[in-house]
Amino acid sequence: MSVKGRIISLKNQKNAIILAHNYQRPEIQDLADVVGDSLELAQKARETDSPLIVFCGVLFMAETAKIINPGKKVIIPEKDATCPLADQLSPSLILEAKERHPGAPVVLYINSTAECKAHADVICTSANAVKVVRSLPEREVIVGPDSNLAAYIQGQIPEKEIIAIPPGGHCYVHECFTYEDLESARKRGGEIICHPECRPEIQRGSDMVASTGGMVRLVGSRKGNAAWNILTEREMAYRLKTLYPGHTFHVKEDAICEDMKKTTLENLLLALEYEQYEVTLPPDIMDRARGAIERMLVIGR
Ligand code: 13P
Ligand code: SF4
Repeated sequence: MSVKGRIISLKNQKNAIILAHNYQRPEIQDLADVVGDSLELAQKARETDSPLIVFCGVLFMAETAKIINPGKKVIIPEKDATCPLADQLSPSLILEAKERHPGAPVVLYINSTAECKAHADVICTSANAVKVVRSLPEREVIVGPDSNLAAYIQGQIPEKEIIAIPPGGHCYVHECFTYEDLESARKRGGEIICHPECRPEIQRGSDMVASTGGMVRLVGSRKGNAAWNILTEREMAYRLKTLYPGHTFHVKEDAICEDMKKTTLENLLLALEYEQYEVTLPPDIMDRARGAIERMLVIGR
């Protein structure tokens, strides 16, 4: 039997569900039960009846699934698939910011470690960050760890004061987009959509700013076929082309998230066979982080 065939057979035998992020390799997206953005995957993880959740993404995503499903087994095929952006924040930086801004709630991007989430009031993703911050009554709001997402929120809600922690926190994949990329996209033609993790000048020069799930919805809502310049991780083009084959998508070929690419058919097979690598977290961290994640899930998109 092929590797693909063995994965499907083991998945059915164990009644497992495979969740995959939009940046996963094409062959992983093809096999997954659900492909989506961070919010859609967290929502799916909460709804599923499967006793075994296989998370094809990066560690903070699998941790989130575990925190909201403490009774289920959550596994990640590659235990070193982390998010360098998430690793830029620490509990001590959050505590320092709280001391400097007493009373300001802490809104953490889902791209953060479980230890940091345990110090948050509410979590957000790029799909609902503005809605989450707007829902808070306080004027001053601490937001981390992505300073570009924080700038995006600030632009959408000028009446609030967004305190970005750490200053300059960023994702290396999205910081690779330059003014020259915008210029070539304009010359090429078509709409330009960027992710809110791109720098503010790239956000301002784009036609739309959206999460990866938001990009799917934007293209899907367009009548007739169109050309799109997609300023995010390059595998997004595969996801969009699968859903909307009549449209044309341009991406930056070297916008690659190395950690997202660590999941392969081979380690996915081993993950299902040996139920590895199980995500485990200290119960007190999970209990403290769960409230902040659940608060976000109630707010939705
Ligand atoms: P989305 O929630 O938009 O999928 O973003 C997750 C991410 O890691 C972007 O780099
Ligand atoms: Fe983290 Fe950036 Fe990779 Fe998203 S693309 S998982 S923010 S490193």
